[in-house]
Amino acid sequence: CVGISHAYVIFGATGNLAVTKLLPALYQLHCAGYLADDVEILGCGRTPFTSETWRAEVRQQLLARDEVETVALDNFVQRLDYLAGSLKDAAFYQSLGEWIGNDGECANNVIFYLSISPDLYVEVTEGLAAAHLLEESQGFRRMVIEKPFGHDLESARTLQHSLSEHLKEEQIYRIDHYVGKEAVQNLLVLRFANLILEPLWNRHHIDHIQITHAETVGVEGRANYYDHSGGAVRDMIQSHLLQVMALLAMEPPVSLEAEALRNEKVKVLQSIRPVDLEQLEMYAIRGQYAAGEVKGQPVPGYLQEEGVAAGSHTESYAAMKLYIDNWRWKDVPFYLRTGKRLQERRSLVAVRFKQPPMQLFQGSGIYQPHPNWLLIGIQPEDAVRMEISAKVPGLEMRTRQIVMDASVSTPGERKAEAYEELLLDVIKGDRSLFLRYDEVKAAWVVVDPVMQRWAQDEQLPLQYPAGGWGPKAAEKIFGDSGRAWRHTL
Ligand code: BG6
Repeated sequence: CVGISHAYVIFGATGNLAVTKLLPALYQLHCAGYLADDVEILGCGRTPFTSETWRAEVRQQLLARDEVETVALDNFVQRLDYLAGSLKDAAFYQSLGEWIGNDGECANNVIFYLSISPDLYVEVTEGLAAAHLLEESQGFRRMVIEKPFGHDLESARTLQHSLSEHLKEEQIYRIDHYVGKEAVQNLLVLRFANLILEPLWNRHHIDHIQITHAETVGVEGRANYYDHSGGAVRDMIQSHLLQVMALLAMEPPVSLEAEALRNEKVKVLQSIRPVDLEQLEMYAIRGQYAAGEVKGQPVPGYLQEEGVAAGSHTESYAAMKLYIDNWRWKDVPFYLRTGKRLQERRSLVAVRFKQPPMQLFQGSGIYQPHPNWLLIGIQPEDAVRMEISAKVPGLEMRTRQIVMDASVSTPGERKAEAYEELLLDVIKGDRSLFLRYDEVKAAWVVVDPVMQRWAQDEQLPLQYPAGGWGPKAAEKIFGDSGRAWRHTL
C-alpha cells in the first residue's frame, strides 16, 4: 500500500485513544514506510491548539514512549495539522472541507476516524454529509467507528439506520481492536493452517472452552464513559470476547476475504442460544470491585472512583456461559469472563478436551488422568501450550501431566500493535478485520436480554476485592460439572 495518498482525519485527536493508540500506530506505520510521502494527518478537537502547538504536543507524547527515534519522529510530526472547533458547529465542517480541498491530490482519499463519544457519531456523520465530505466522486471517503456500536440492540439499529443514510456499507469500518491483535489473528492460523486440530475441533472431542480477559487496571479516568456507556458486558463481551468466540467456533471460510470471513463469524453469533433468564445466575454473573490491593498497591473500590455515580450498578466483572446451537458445537459450553482490578493482566483461551473413551490407567490407584488442555495466550504472552499425559520414567506404570510449550514470537521480534494493523487495513481498504453490521447486531441480541434483566435488579453487583479473580460466585456458572476457571497458562 506504499503510495496510497490519503488524509487521515482524527476526530477527538487530543483524547485518550488518539494519544495512546492512534498516533503511536500512525508513527509506526510512518517508520515502516507504509505512509506515502504526501499523507497528512489532521487532528480535530475542541482544545485550541494550532498545528504548531499540536505537533509539539504529539512530539512530546511520542517521545515519552519506547521505540521512538528522534529523526523519524521529527519527520512524522511534519505530517500533522490541527483544526480546532466544535463538532456541533456547521462552520467547523466548512473549515474541514476547505482543509481537504486545499490539501492537494491526496485529499481525494480521506479517512475519518471517530475517536469521540458514541453520542456524537450521527451528528458528525450528518455534519460531514451536509458539507459533501462523504461523497466519493474523486477518491475514497472512509469512516472508522469505534465500539460500542450503540449501547443496546435498539440504539445499534437506530445508529445503523442513520449512518446508512449517508454512507455505503463499504465506507464504514467498525473497529474492534481485539480482532487486530496478533494473537487473535493467530487463532485463524492455528485452526486452519494445522491439520492436527481440526478433526478434534467439535462437540465430540471438546468438553468446553474458556475465554478470559483479565485486567489489573480499574476505570483509569474513563469513568464517564465506562459508568454510563460501558460495564463489562457492553465494553468487553458484546464486542471483543464474542469476536474471539466467533473466530474459535466458526467453520472454515472459503477464503480470507472480508465477506467470506464475516459470513462464517455471523453464523456463529446467530446460532448462540438465548440465555435462560429464568435461571440467569447459572448463565451470567456480574461483579463490581471493592477496595483491595493490586500488585501490592492499595486501590479504591469501583464506587469510590472519581466520576462513578453514587450507588452505580455498573458491573466491572462479568462471566457468561453460552452455547452454540449448531452441528459442530451443540451442548459444548463456552465460558466468557472479563474483569477489571483482577490479580493479573492476562487474556487466554483455554480449550479442555474430553477424556478418552476408556481409562486404561484409571484403576491402578496411582493415577487420576488429567484431561488434555490446549491453552492459547493472547496477552501478555503469545504462547501456545498443550497439556498431555505421559509415563513417569521408572518400573511402574505411572503417568503424569507434561506440557508442550511454545512461544509464537521469537526473542527480539517486534509484535505489531493491533491498531497498526487496523489503521493500515483502512488505508488498504481491507475490511476483513472490521465488523459487519449483522455481526454487531447478532452480538447485541445475545447480551441485550441479560443487560435488561440486570437493569431491573435492585441489588448491587456482587462485590469482589480488587486484586483477586472476581466474585467467588462466578464458579457457580460451572454448576456441578467439576469444571473450574483456568487463570493462567
Ligand atoms: C477496550 C475497553 O475496548 O479494551 C477497555 O474499552 C479495555 O475497557 C480494553 O481495557 C482492553 O483491551 P487491551 O488491548 O488494552 O487489552
